[in-house]
Amino acid sequence: MNPWLETLQKKNTQLQNDGLVRRLQMRESPNAPEVQLEGKTLLSFCSNDYLGLSNHPSLAEALAVGAVQFGVGSGASPLISGHTNAHAKLEQALAQTQNLHIPNVSSCLMSTGFMANVGALTALASLGQISFFSDSLNHASIIDGIRFAKTCHQATVSIFQHSDYDHLKSLLELDQNTLKCIVTDGVFSMDGDIANLPKLLSLAEQYSALLYVDDAHGFGVLGENGHGSLEHFGLNSSLLVYMGTLGKAAGISGAFLASGNLWIDWFTQAARPLIYSTNTSPALSHALMNSLELMHSSDGATRREKLFNNIHVWHKNAVFKRWHCLQSSTPIQPLMIGDNNETLFVSRRLKEKGIWVPAIRPPTVPINSARLRITLNADHTPEMVYQLLHTLKEIETEINE
Ligand SMILES: Cc1ncc(COP(=O)(O)O)c(C=O)c1O
Repeated sequence: MNPWLETLQKKNTQLQNDGLVRRLQMRESPNAPEVQLEGKTLLSFCSNDYLGLSNHPSLAEALAVGAVQFGVGSGASPLISGHTNAHAKLEQALAQTQNLHIPNVSSCLMSTGFMANVGALTALASLGQISFFSDSLNHASIIDGIRFAKTCHQATVSIFQHSDYDHLKSLLELDQNTLKCIVTDGVFSMDGDIANLPKLLSLAEQYSALLYVDDAHGFGVLGENGHGSLEHFGLNSSLLVYMGTLGKAAGISGAFLASGNLWIDWFTQAARPLIYSTNTSPALSHALMNSLELMHSSDGATRREKLFNNIHVWHKNAVFKRWHCLQSSTPIQPLMIGDNNETLFVSRRLKEKGIWVPAIRPPTVPINSARLRITLNADHTPEMVYQLLHTLKEIETEINE
């Protein structure tokens, strides 16, 4: 047999045996609490559209207006000719969201959060011999950004146990490099817990390190105005580099880096995904301005209230005999099942009963910690959350019998 085919076949069989095959599922309707899948209407608890903006009519209208006013495509990478007034206006507005937290704040847009992390972390490493200190549960894009930084710029990396800041301190203490950068998710994407940023910042100050916060799941959700985890904790420091994404609570796509203007200028010099990739559509930037306005309006505040009420309903009632819930005060509520096949079974039974929550398995999460990653949105009603709880309890009884 052709060696490529033989290798592929072996790998596929192995994934099959381990219950780790991933399959795309084609949604046949826009994103919403109720979606169409395989011709059926399902209640969805698996989108990161925390404020319910991804299908908001005023965003759709802004996208259409933006396409006419600013163009559909940007035409080039930002440094060639693809940076437009629509992008610049959005960058200013995004920087404003962090201006109480970062002195001389400026921001730059990136195509996705993944690219922002890869670009920024590699750009930081290109400044000299740098040591990264990374939480063990950081997102894949941080892991890959640091891998790039190691390979291209000889950066070193120390992984500290999840949220174990004594461990982090001992690693900082031992490190000889003068350039240090602590990297953390603001809200951990698979566990839903919030990093203790005040503690991390005090360690950063003590060791003259930068604190890089990936707030993909905090921006739009946390803080009185939804400005994210820096607002949530009321932090202010020139040692902060903030990364927020625009495809989750902001409802569209893209990401931004916000930091002191010197840092943002450096990213413009050295972040390769920014330099060597076609800029995002200006129409998207225009629609994102609308999304920011909504996030900051009284409607946005009401949406956050509804979201946190749904989280409260879940917390009060999510007690299971067989499975356990992780402590999380954010819209990400993991139901820990452990075994890959049982997790797949529960996900399949939920779907048969009209609810969509995919099984999350290794390597996305550590081995033996397969789970249902339940995400709550502002557009869910409390009744929908009760329906999920009730259905999960039915399935649990079915398994126990
Ligand atoms: C913590 C975290 N960072 C970065 C990303 C990547 O963001 P994007 O989806 O915009 O590429 C994700 C995506 O899920 C994430 O959860």
